[in-house]
Amino acid sequence: MSNPYQPDTELGRSERQVVLAYMGTAAVLLLLMMTFGVIMRLAQGNLLDVRPDWFYRILTLHGSGMVGLAGLAGAGIMWYFLRQHVQLSLPVAWTNLALFLIGVVLILGGVIAGGYAGAWTFLYPLPAHGMGVWSKSGAASFLVGLLLIGVGFLLLHLDTARGIVKRYGGLGKGLGWPQLFGHNDGNAPPAAVVASTMVLIVNTLGLVSGAAIVVMSLVNLYFPAFQVDPLLAKNMIYFFGHVFINATIYMSVIAVYSLLPRYTGRPWKSSNKVFLGAWTASTLMVIIVYPHHLLMDFAMPEWMTVMGQIISYTSGLPVLVVTAYGAITILYRSGIRWDLGAGLLALSAFGWAAGTIPAMVDATITVNQVMHNTLWVPGHFHFYLLLGVMAMVLGFMSWMGRTYGQGARSSLDLPAFSLYVLGGLGLVGMFLLGGVAGTPRRYADYLQAWVPYAQWGAFFGALVLLATTVLVLRFFGQFLAGREAVDARVA
Ligand code: HEM
Repeated sequence: MSNPYQPDTELGRSERQVVLAYMGTAAVLLLLMMTFGVIMRLAQGNLLDVRPDWFYRILTLHGSGMVGLAGLAGAGIMWYFLRQHVQLSLPVAWTNLALFLIGVVLILGGVIAGGYAGAWTFLYPLPAHGMGVWSKSGAASFLVGLLLIGVGFLLLHLDTARGIVKRYGGLGKGLGWPQLFGHNDGNAPPAAVVASTMVLIVNTLGLVSGAAIVVMSLVNLYFPAFQVDPLLAKNMIYFFGHVFINATIYMSVIAVYSLLPRYTGRPWKSSNKVFLGAWTASTLMVIIVYPHHLLMDFAMPEWMTVMGQIISYTSGLPVLVVTAYGAITILYRSGIRWDLGAGLLALSAFGWAAGTIPAMVDATITVNQVMHNTLWVPGHFHFYLLLGVMAMVLGFMSWMGRTYGQGARSSLDLPAFSLYVLGGLGLVGMFLLGGVAGTPRRYADYLQAWVPYAQWGAFFGALVLLATTVLVLRFFGQFLAGREAVDARVA
């Protein structure tokens, strides 16, 4: 079997550097945000004394930080593989990172100095009602930070759109529509292009909606006479939030499509109608499924909530099925030589698939009425974010480290991988069981009956943090050790 760690010659040093900067920034933030996660679980388990106002600040940082870093890491993966097929702008990629970092500083300032603790969902009109807990400038700093990050991603997607349209002649062609709806000549774009086209379509719509409501919230903050219909605002926020976090999966999954073939020596078959049809179907459904976040809002039009339930059963499914099926067929009897990167990528297909099951359960209206504000919800999204998206990200980083850094296995790989799986399943399991036991979501203080789930959650969370620390240190260590060798290997 050929060596999976062959550098890609289409990318020069400066292209690799920007991807490295994306992944490195995301990795550092991941460790920090995981630490915040463990602190919250320790506080809920009465093992650490955290004042409630600080609990909600930490919750706000953890939520916005995790969603942001997942977006950044996904964008790094997408950029790396898309760049091999279309021309992308380096200055735009760096601008996105710069705006991201400025946004992070403003968010940290808004939360730590300004006291903002209204969660990453900034539900209108909450930012304007700090009730003495946070200042107006704190809320404004948080919102402006989000806005800058959104603008950065918008620029990036406009650039990927430009590149795809230039190379393939249109977004429909980027999704492989001529081959999907007409004669399949076998010349559909590669999976990385199809996925990037889908992501740019949905994320552009989501980001515009998010930016619009952030601006309206900012105006409302300083001119309270300017008001927005709160239900409209909630729809805009959840449309943005749902699409953005889903896009992180659709960007990161490109690593699975592009790297599992290298590990197995088999191609990922993307030029067929089933694969193309799945991506087109998910493009539409990801846009219209978001009302499943508003099932408890009795003022929502009934048809929207019904649509939210039905589409939840089908939304992610097409892409998920083609990915899981593709991963199984490509791995089966391939004679793959397992290592950390391959293991994490295979784990990610499992984590994503398994995580959608409790998500679908929660999207059923009758279940949602009981479970929605319980820990069942963090249970399902941590499942596919931690064991799905983050496994894709860490898998890609492990592959990058060995390809461009110092290429060697380590005796720490297997223990770190096992700890990550064990800790991840335990953390998610405690959220889900806590939800079944009726533990409310986003509570700083618990009744005694809920405490054990939090304590075990803190334990498993600490295992995940430890494993991730090893993986991230390996990533940085490989680059530091292999700095000299990279250019020679690529040349
Ligand atoms: C060591 C790993 C992690 C731990 C210990 C952890 C812990 C927590 C805790 C305790 C909460 C609050 C739950 C509640 O009471 O409602 C939470 C919320 C959340 N977590 Fe994590 N988490 C981890 C990893 C992740 C990852 C990898 C992501 C995404 C990439 C993530 C995204 C979120 C989001 C979006 C929220 C919701 C915040 C909100 O309700 O406003 N977490 N997490």
